[in-house]
Order: sequence, then structure tokens, then C-alpha cells
Amino acid sequence: MKTEGGSAAAKRRAGERAATQVEDGTVVGLGTGSTTAHAIRAIGEAVAGGLEVRGVPTSYQSRALAIDVGIPLTTLEEADGIDLAIDGADQIADGDLIKGGGAAHTREKFVAAAADRFLVVADPSKLVADLDRSVPVETLPDARPVVEDRVRELGGEPGLRAAQRKDGPVVTDNGNLVLDCAFGTIDEPGELARGLASIPGVVEHGLFVDMADVTYVGTEDGTDRRTY
Ligand code: A5P
Repeated sequence: MKTEGGSAAAKRRAGERAATQVEDGTVVGLGTGSTTAHAIRAIGEAVAGGLEVRGVPTSYQSRALAIDVGIPLTTLEEADGIDLAIDGADQIADGDLIKGGGAAHTREKFVAAAADRFLVVADPSKLVADLDRSVPVETLPDARPVVEDRVRELGGEPGLRAAQRKDGPVVTDNGNLVLDCAFGTIDEPGELARGLASIPGVVEHGLFVDMADVTYVGTEDGTDRRTY
């Protein structure tokens, strides 16, 4: 029988723990990725048991999963605010995040921004002392040359994210490209976030600075909860 590995089990624990925070009668932001998928499935089970919630998905993937597990959906326009958003991360340093490994960070960011509380779920491999992964930058296709130039002026090296099992680039749910921008160790995430946001043609970048309220990180036998 196939057993669940350490990282997979940690993701499940984190996702399921965060799902316990969802209260009856609320609107929930549904993030994207393998860790959040555990939360979405757990919320689906709670809905089957009588919990009344509505979900705001952040991607094609989270929308499809939410439909599959029976979570009623709504939109930011229809919902009177979002009570709680749950989402994963690619790196976490002192509550600041790099997201966008699944190219969903634009919707993830405005859903998290609209939420009263933003819960981040992850396995321990995501915890670092300093952010140093490439930062995904969703870019309007026609703006790619100017965005690449400006990223280099900020000290980064942009790389167009290539699709797998399709020739050419990844195209986001919003019809845009993703530039993965390597900056090395990011000493001042807030400053870099502002710099990237100011580039014409950038739709959204994957630095989530000072947005997380709580992180749940799955451990060997439970979850480590930290507040920010
Ligand atoms: C989606 O674009 C990302 O921001 C994901 O939330 C992030 O990559 C975490 O994914 P996993 O939970 O699959 O590691």
C-alpha cells in the first residue's frame, strides 16, 4: 500500500488544521496548490456535514476542486467581504511570502487582501530565514521587454516560465505570462515589492509582504501555528 510521505502528510495536517478555523455562515477565500487542496477537501466534508459557507476561488484549479467537493461558490462582487482566506506559499520568512509557483498569485493576492484574516498553510520545507526564491511576476504579454528591462534595473534576472506538455510559455488563468525573477537573497522584501509593483505592464508579483495573519506549518505529528 502506498503510504503518505513526510512532506505530503505535513501539507495535509496544515491544510486540515486551517480548515477547522472556517465558521458557519462565512465566506472563505480558497487558495491554490497542493497544501490548500487539503483544506478545500476538509471544508467540503464539513459542508456535507451541514456547515454553510461560500467560497471565493483563486484559480481554475481551486474552483474545479471546490465544485468537486461541493462547496458553494461566490465572487468578490457578490460576497459582502471575505471572512477568511486560506492559501499556501512557496517560501515563508517571518510571515512574508513568495507565492506564484502555480502562477495563481494575482488572484490569490487580491482575495487575501479582501479577507479579514489570511491563513497560510505549508510544510516545513517552505520555512526559510530569508526569502531567496525567484519571484513570479505576472506580465502582460506585450509588455514583456519593458518588464524584463526594469526587473534587471532592480537587480533581478527574469526568466520566462515555460509550459510543460505544451510548446511555449505558461499562460496564466488571466491570459498573461509569468517571468520568474531571480534576485538572490531578498534583504528588503517591502522595497522590492514596491519596485516590482511600479513597473508598467506588471499585473502582479508574488511577494506577499505583511499580509499573513497566521501560518500553519505541518510537523511530524501536528501543526506549528504562528501569528504575525
Ligand atoms: C500558487 O500560485 C501558489 O502560490 C501556491 O499557493 C504555492 O505554490 C504553494 O503550493 P503548494 O501548496 O502546492 O506547495
